[in-house]
Amino acid sequence: MPIRITKLQEMKDAGERIVCVTAYDFPTARLVQQAGFEVVLIGDSLGNVVLGYDTTIPVTLEDMVHHTRAVARGAPDLLVVADMPFMTFNVSAEDALRNAGRLLQEGGAHAVKLEGGVPVAETVRRLTEAGIPVMGHLGLTPQSVNQLGGYRVQGRTLPQAQRLLDDADALQAAGAFSIVLETVPAELARVVTDRLRIPTIGIGAGASCDGQIQVLHDILGLGARRPKHAKRYADLNETIGTALSAYAEEVREGRFPAAEHATEIDDAVLRELLSGVEPTA
Ligand code: KIV
Repeated sequence: MPIRITKLQEMKDAGERIVCVTAYDFPTARLVQQAGFEVVLIGDSLGNVVLGYDTTIPVTLEDMVHHTRAVARGAPDLLVVADMPFMTFNVSAEDALRNAGRLLQEGGAHAVKLEGGVPVAETVRRLTEAGIPVMGHLGLTPQSVNQLGGYRVQGRTLPQAQRLLDDADALQAAGAFSIVLETVPAELARVVTDRLRIPTIGIGAGASCDGQIQVLHDILGLGARRPKHAKRYADLNETIGTALSAYAEEVREGRFPAAEHATEIDDAVLRELLSGVEPTA
């Protein structure tokens, strides 16, 4: 039985921290489940860390369905949340319903995440009324990078901070089951967390949030990103780079494959084969 959204609420109520991370494929999703996380997010950070785009804007619904399927197969016991990519929920609530429905029906997600506050609250209400759990996302919302003028800390000024509170209230009232707070001052994240009944999940938002989320590649040291909010718990660039160089060297020197990596043919079969084979010119 997978972890349900009600479990996350119980954890907030009990003061237990919710542990979340992104994943984009089957093997890493399995590892996340084995490590005992509560939530795995197929983030549209897929665009940055897996597909090689500069932003999340080119990520499509097809991309998300495809990767969500793989993650859902790898982590069936976790709460599987899929990001709704740019422009898949902003055009109309009907469009959002259809697209979110695909992430659940075809992708196997249990919930969706979408960016924005007051302007998307009505869509969040329609989705949750249709039985699609929604995780909100406030603060630095990467799909709005062009509007925000870059990847900047949000909520430092009074109007920005006030808007964040209004957005958080609107999402909760619309039925969101939790809200990601990305790159906002820690004190503001604490105010939002204390104010809301539903759990907050922080990334670059300090330690007071009810849970934390990170991009898998950032904490594993895989790829070029080094965001300030991420701690590297491994250096997979180094590990994988060393392994690949060793493989290439052994192939060039004829040391790989060795006898134990090959299969054998019966001597009698080989002799008979060779006896009937015409020598090449
Ligand atoms: O796309 C993503 O990975 C996210 C997390 C950073 C929360 O939205």
